[in-house]
Amino acid sequence: MTVHIGAKAGDIAPTVLLPGDPYRARWAAETFLENPRLVNEVRGMLGYTGTWQGHPVTIHGSGMGMPSISIYANELIRDYGAQTLIRVGSAGAMQERVKIRDVVLAQTATTLSTPSRGIFREINFAPSADFGLLAAAHRVATAKGIATHVGNIYSSDVFYDERPDLNEIMARHGVLCVEMEAAELYNLCARHGVRGLAVLTISDHLITHEALPASDRQSSFGEMIEIALGAAFS
Ligand code: ADE
Repeated sequence: MTVHIGAKAGDIAPTVLLPGDPYRARWAAETFLENPRLVNEVRGMLGYTGTWQGHPVTIHGSGMGMPSISIYANELIRDYGAQTLIRVGSAGAMQERVKIRDVVLAQTATTLSTPSRGIFREINFAPSADFGLLAAAHRVATAKGIATHVGNIYSSDVFYDERPDLNEIMARHGVLCVEMEAAELYNLCARHGVRGLAVLTISDHLITHEALPASDRQSSFGEMIEIALGAAFS
């Protein structure tokens, strides 16, 4: 047990998928894993462990924002030995060519700040995905015929951001989309020498103001889970 995870030693698999929403973790575990069992429910942050095609897998909520994913990723890596951590989540598109429902694989994640700022201070560390996972996810997603983009994303601390120039600067530098967790996941994976990736589906568009209909959210989320599982074990 750790401060935020009630699982026993050995209850967490080396491969962990991290949706932000704990109810999504439950749905994904019940839909994609064989014999899923609840291994954590501290503060309602549900985590399940089961198997996928014979491989042990944990699907655990991360919460929203970098401070939250930092807590779970730290404990999963340092206390439970997680070796592969894949965020599966939604993002807002920042480029016209990136459409609602498209998948973005975050090669790098730009930020204003992360919980790791205390360590990096004046260093502009570049949080980056594990290349093997990234390449495998790209193969899986394109084989499924899903429109997939690979590149830089923006991990923001603020959902209701009142500084409009930020989005413009990001967009002008080719940033594909905005979400709120990947950069710190990548920082932690680099620090501990484990594999990290963020697989994102576009749920809203900052230029066209379109949004993914509620009825499509589950199927898009399911596709991300399949990409993440396929990438983790290819
Ligand atoms: N996640 C999904 N859409 C987002 C947005 N527009 N900003 C930040 N995080 C998001």
